[in-house]
Amino acid sequence: MALFGRQEKTAGQGTVLPRHIAIIMDGNGRWAQKRGLPRTAGHAAGAETFRRIASYCRDLGIEYLTVYAFSTENWKRSAEEVSAIMGLLKKYLEEAIEKMRRENVRIRILGDTSVLSPELRELIARVEAIDETLDTRTQANLCVNYGGRDEIVRAVKAWQADPGHGELTEGELSKYLYTAGMPDPDLVIRPSGEERVSNFLLWQSAYSEFYFTDTLWPDFTEKDMDRAIEAFRKRDRRYGGVKK
Ligand code: IPE
Ligand code: IPE
Ligand code: MG
Repeated sequence: MALFGRQEKTAGQGTVLPRHIAIIMDGNGRWAQKRGLPRTAGHAAGAETFRRIASYCRDLGIEYLTVYAFSTENWKRSAEEVSAIMGLLKKYLEEAIEKMRRENVRIRILGDTSVLSPELRELIARVEAIDETLDTRTQANLCVNYGGRDEIVRAVKAWQADPGHGELTEGELSKYLYTAGMPDPDLVIRPSGEERVSNFLLWQSAYSEFYFTDTLWPDFTEKDMDRAIEAFRKRDRRYGGVKK
């Protein structure tokens, strides 16, 4: 709660804090390489950073934190690296089952989880079941085997297959996305110096503010989050309208 205290106003006009922050957790590999460590050590450090930043967002009163953990393209990496990332996810979910009530952050997994190991799928189901009973305003969405294009294609197919579907409009299609019922991200942060979207939240980020920093994700601190939010607060969001 260093800078802003609890959220007083929601995003939009007179914005105080973003309701929904999304982060592309990038730079783990380079962080490790700089230290002469294997890339997997960078992912372990990045997972720690996520724990810290999720708690910080809860303290700030951010309603939704959506992080990109593993993309539909990340399967191109070595089997060793992929399995290390899945191992970290497993550890995180096991821990969440223990600590979620204390931490009071609701957790959701966004992405095509059908191809994950049965063990991971079981853990995801258990974590999402705890979900329902938590009294918290903060939800952390972990995007795993997530791709923005894949999400849109799946949404169209699900809409098509749903006998109760309405007329196909933007609002209607949104109901079939992984983020159904959630507000769009107000702020998308990408650390590590890359300035691209890499297939993250393509539909939802139509009017998001973007913040880029050279800091590598494992080095990202609460101070970096304060800076990103401060930058966001200075933005003039017009949504295609005119300056007020
Ligand atoms: C982000 O860090 C984590 C994943 C994509 C899983 P990277 O592993 O992409 O790190 P860099 O970009 O190689 O430094
Ligand atoms: C995006 O980072 C995916 C995640 C952070 C999980 P990448 O490192 O995979 O993206 P590119 O390849 O640099 O675009
Ligand atoms: Mg990367």
